[in-house]
Amino acid sequence: MPVYCLTGANRGLGLEFVRQLSQLPSATIIATTRSNDNDLTDLKAINPSDTSTKIHIMECDIASLDSINSFVKNASSLLESQSLKITHLIANAGVNSVSGQNSLTIGPADLHREIDINLIGPAKLVENLVSQSLLANDVRVLNMTSGLGSMTKSLTIEPRKCMTY
Ligand SMILES: NC(=O)c1ccc[n+]([C@@H]2O[C@H](COP(=O)([O-])OP(=O)(O)OC[C@H]3O[C@@H](n4cnc5c(N)ncnc54)[C@H](OP(=O)(O)O)[C@@H]3O)[C@@H](O)[C@H]2O)c1
Repeated sequence: MPVYCLTGANRGLGLEFVRQLSQLPSATIIATTRSNDNDLTDLKAINPSDTSTKIHIMECDIASLDSINSFVKNASSLLESQSLKITHLIANAGVNSVSGQNSLTIGPADLHREIDINLIGPAKLVENLVSQSLLANDVRVLNMTSGLGSMTKSLTIEPRKCMTY
């Protein structure tokens, strides 16, 4: 049975991933959100088309190692109780919060925050899931990227921006 796990599922592309995955038969979807205090109305409203498909909403703040550890414990309880492993991990959560910054105006705290969320968090999530043997042998790990994250591809953008991203 396919098991999809994704971060940043409460809105944007993550929410749409859940919507579309929920139309698959016999799938397990672990939809994580930075905080359970987020408005989860849209996520909770998603109805799988097949009753054998289940959506589990869990908290995972990708910028917090403690939150990642807690999430992995919760995911472990769920997956082990059903003898399941994650077959698709979608590292969707990400931020481009200070898009106006260029190479001459980088804010150190902003750069650290974006590295924590966009780079270190996804790596630590995989590390923790591997250490608990929660990933299938043939797992597919999808890391979201963007043309704006590429200095070469964004060469044509004037004025230059999104340096921290
Ligand atoms: N939209 C585009 O055109 C585009 C293009 C290329 C790539 N991307 C990438 O695709 C991904 C999704 O983009 P989007 O447009 O859907 O972005 P979005 O609408 O801004 O949504 C971002 C999602 O990431 C979550 N998030 C932020 N910080 C988090 C954290 N510390 N822990 C867990 N979740 C966190 C947000 O949760 P909160 O609601 O709690 O903030 C939200 O669910 C991002 O990685 C982005 O870089 C987007």
